Amino acid sequence: MNRLDLAIVLAAGDGTRMKSTTAKVLHEIAGRSLLSHVLHAVSELQPTHTRVVVGAQHEEVTSHLNEIAPKAHPVLQAKRNGTGHAVRLALEVGAVEGTILVTAGDTPLLTGLTLSELFAEHIKAEAAATVLTAELPDPFGYGRIIRDENDELLKIVEERDASEVERDIAEINSGVYLFDAKALAVALTKITTANVQGEEYLTDVIAIMKADGAKVIPIVVNNFTEILGINDRSQLSECAAFMRDRINHALMVSGVSILDPATTWVDFTAEIAPNVTLLPGTSISGHTVIEAGAVIGPRSTLANCRVGAGAKVVESHCAGSAIGANANIGPFSYLRDGNDISADAKVGAFVEMKNSSLGQGSKVPHLSYVGDASIGTGTNIGAATIFVNYDGVAKHHTEVGDHVRIGSDTMLVAPVTIGDGAYTAAGSVITEDVPAGAIGVGRAKQRNVLDWVLRKRPGTKSAEAAKNVKGSAS
Ligand code: UD1
Ligand code: CA
Repeated sequence: MNRLDLAIVLAAGDGTRMKSTTAKVLHEIAGRSLLSHVLHAVSELQPTHTRVVVGAQHEEVTSHLNEIAPKAHPVLQAKRNGTGHAVRLALEVGAVEGTILVTAGDTPLLTGLTLSELFAEHIKAEAAATVLTAELPDPFGYGRIIRDENDELLKIVEERDASEVERDIAEINSGVYLFDAKALAVALTKITTANVQGEEYLTDVIAIMKADGAKVIPIVVNNFTEILGINDRSQLSECAAFMRDRINHALMVSGVSILDPATTWVDFTAEIAPNVTLLPGTSISGHTVIEAGAVIGPRSTLANCRVGAGAKVVESHCAGSAIGANANIGPFSYLRDGNDISADAKVGAFVEMKNSSLGQGSKVPHLSYVGDASIGTGTNIGAATIFVNYDGVAKHHTEVGDHVRIGSDTMLVAPVTIGDGAYTAAGSVITEDVPAGAIGVGRAKQRNVLDWVLRKRPGTKSAEAAKNVKGSAS
C-alpha cells in the first residue's frame, strides 16, 4: 500500500505583513487556527510522520501545536533562510524514505480531498516531484510555473526574480508539493542562495531535478481558492469569507436553511441538524450543537451552546448555556456562561442570566437579572425582578421553587429560598426565606397625604389638574 511517509508543514515565517502580536499561523478562521486547518487537511493522508517547521514566535506556535496535534513534531528554524532551508532542517530530524508532502501553514482553504488526489497522481506517475499549481486571476506575488515547449514543468521563478514575460504567466506555484524522499534529499544539496532575496528556495529543486532527468509533474488545482495563502489581514478576511461560504454551502446541502449566507458565520466546530433555520446576522461559534427545527436569529450569537429541538433564539447573545426544546429566548436576551434553560421555558426582552437554571415552562419575560439561581418548573418571574447575588464581596445562591409567582420589581437578596407555590408582592425586597404557599411582602405600607400638591406645589400644572378634579367633584 502506498502511504505518505512524511508531511512537512512550513510555519516559521515572520508574518510581518499581518502587523500582529499573534503569530500568523495562530490567527483563526471559522474557529480554528490557520495551522489547525492545514493539519486537518494533511491528516487525511494519514502521514507516518508530521513535522512542523516553527521559527517566529515558536514558543506560542509549539504550545498550540502540542494542543491540536500532539503527535506532530516541531522543528525549530532559528533563522529564516528560506523554504529550502526549512525543508532541509525538517529532514535532518530523522531519515525518511518514500513520499514526502511539503505544504505551508498559511493556506487554510486547502482540502484533504485535493491532497488525496495529488497524492494519487504522484504515485501513479512515479514522479520525483509533483507540484500543485493554480491559474490565478491575479498571480502577483506568487512563484510562476515555467513550462517548456512540450508543456512540461521546467522550473519555478519567484515574482522578484522573474522577467517581465515570466510575470505575465498566470499559472502559479501553490507551495504544495509531493516528493520522492531520495530525489528531494539529493536536490536540496544543490540549491544556492543566488537570488534576489538571498534565501534557499525550495522551488529551485524543481529545475535541479529536471536537469538530472527526473520526472517532475505539475497538477492544476480544480478550485484556485484552495491554495490562497494569507500574508496580511485583508487576505485573512478574504479567506474567512471563502471558508464561510464553504461551510454554509455544506450546511444548506445537508438541510439547514440559511436565509442570508453572506451574514451567517458558523464555526467548523459547530454541529447543526437538518431543518434548523439560521436567520440573517447570526454567528454560531465553538462547540455549539443545534437540534432540528430550532430557529436562530436574526442577529444572534451562540457560543458553545446546546440548543434543543424547536427552540427559538431571537436577537440575543448566548454563551456557554443549554437551551431546552421549544424554549424561547429573546428578543434582546443575554445568556452568560452556565445557564440551563429547560424545555418550553422563556427568557424575554432585556433579561440577563448567568449560572442559573430555569425549570420547564418557567418564564422570565421582561427586564430582569438572574444570577446564581435555581428556578423550578411552571414559575413566573415578574418584570424587573433582580436576583441580588453579590454582596460586594461574595456571590450567593437563590432557590426558587415550582409554580412560584415573583411579583414585578422584586429584589431577591441572596442567599434566599422561595418555597413551592409561594408569591412575593410587587416591589418587595426579599431578604428572608418565603415558605411554600406564603406571600412575602417586603415593602413599606402606602400612605396618601391628601392635598399635598395643592399646598406644596401651588401654581404648577399638576396643582391645576388636581384642582379641576376637586372642582368638578364638589
Ligand atoms: C512561496 C513560494 C512561491 C509560492 C508561494 C505560495 C518559495 C521560494 N516560494 O512564496 O513559489 O508561489 O509560496 O504561497 O518557496 N517559511 C519557513 N521558513 C523560511 C521561509 C518561509 O518556514 O525560512 C514558511 C513560511 O512561514 C510560509 C511558507 O514557508 O508558511 C512560505 O513562505 P513565504 O515566505 O510565505 O513564501 P512566499 O513568498 O509566499
Ligand atoms: Ca506565503
